[in-house]
Amino acid sequence: MTAQPHFHPGTPPLRIEGVYKSFENKLALKGVSLTLEAGRILALLGPSGCGKTTLLRCIAGLLPTDRGSIWIGEQVMSAPGLYRPPEARELGMVFQDYALWPHMTVAENVEFPLKMRGIAGSERRHSVAWALDTVGLAEFAGRSPETLSGGQQQRVAMARAIVARPRLLLMDEPLSNLDKGLRESLALDIRRLIKELGLSAVFVTHDQQEAFALADQVAVLQGGELHQIAAPQVLYDFPANAGIATFLGSGMVIPGRFTAQGFHVGEDGHVLPFHAPMAQDEDVTLFIPRRAVSVCGQQATVTAEVAAVVFQGEQHGLRLRLSPSVELTLHSRHAPRVGERLSLAVDAPCLRAWRLDGQAVNVHSAPVSARSARDPIHRHVNPRKQDNEFTDWKDSARRDPDRRIEHTGMGG
Ligand SMILES: Nc1ncnc2c1ncn2[C@@H]1O[C@H](COP(=O)(O)OP(=O)(O)O)[C@@H](O)[C@H]1O
Ligand SMILES: [Mg+2]
Repeated sequence: MTAQPHFHPGTPPLRIEGVYKSFENKLALKGVSLTLEAGRILALLGPSGCGKTTLLRCIAGLLPTDRGSIWIGEQVMSAPGLYRPPEARELGMVFQDYALWPHMTVAENVEFPLKMRGIAGSERRHSVAWALDTVGLAEFAGRSPETLSGGQQQRVAMARAIVARPRLLLMDEPLSNLDKGLRESLALDIRRLIKELGLSAVFVTHDQQEAFALADQVAVLQGGELHQIAAPQVLYDFPANAGIATFLGSGMVIPGRFTAQGFHVGEDGHVLPFHAPMAQDEDVTLFIPRRAVSVCGQQATVTAEVAAVVFQGEQHGLRLRLSPSVELTLHSRHAPRVGERLSLAVDAPCLRAWRLDGQAVNVHSAPVSARSARDPIHRHVNPRKQDNEFTDWKDSARRDPDRRIEHTGMGG
């Protein structure tokens, strides 16, 4: 079964323009604009207090906006001097605590939005049966929600949100009250359900794994501002600023300066062989994404000392020290020794740097001609220790000639 579209194909199900919202003179939303395409799932991701729930409640009509406009389909719902209440917006909503009524049965809970819309009894019964069947809870219709597990209550809340075939589904932290294992399987179930029903959805989460698993697009909110909206992989690989890179933990974020010698790590003065002539001698933040780094013997860019190795089942988590203050975590199938020095290749085109005003600058690594053919390890890091490092690497390569450490680029 697919939902009936409530608006012309091509009209985005949700459009938000310049929305501001304050509480007691404190701005919770600072000019948020975004568009959701039909059939897409959008995650609002950000740390606690960044305004995610406030934005969702403005979309739902549970809060009026101070400024800006919100369209649902072709209809303007919030605008200067105009505010349509939640009932007029015909949305499905899943609240963080599910908000199920304990004095009603599961079926009565699911039926409630249909009653509110004045839908006839026979049609209501048909729709409730469909919704409960869709979420796999047909046999629980007569039970009280309090007798159900957390996962089942979540499904009742989903059934109630979809029963009236809403034009847009809104969910606030839909999985945050569940155990980790259940969260992962339910995230996939919810995604499949939304796609099968052809719904468009916006959900709030502070958990990037949940955002990546469930969403087609992720909007990162920080301090009431929308900083980036992109597909999960794009967001992870190309964060728009240092704040997003830090929040996602997809690599190392290092304050410092580029000079003719290379990148000087701000905290310890260590020099890494990366250059940015356009931003020389300016304070910047360098981002080295984890996916840009691989452990290898050839064409090494930098070396790193193994600070810790954590057995994680199918892989090992390595903590690698590039300088006294800079550590990178990587995943590896093999376990090097703690204290061992590894040669790392860094794919320079993946690097990003930003000036303090947020402006991006291009980064490249030292030209190959700057290094000798015999010495694949950079000269800049620590010339005195260079020979030792090279011997270390040769030794470890001799012990295990097939040694190749792979990393998944995920996790931290
Ligand atoms: N009803 C309210 N009254 C006063 N301040 C509020 C209210 N709701 C939210 N806030 C404030 O607005 C900011 C954003 O809150 P919220 O949208 O709930 O964040 P999130 O969902 O991202 O954790 C926070 O500083 C919060 O304290
Ligand atoms: Mg919230």
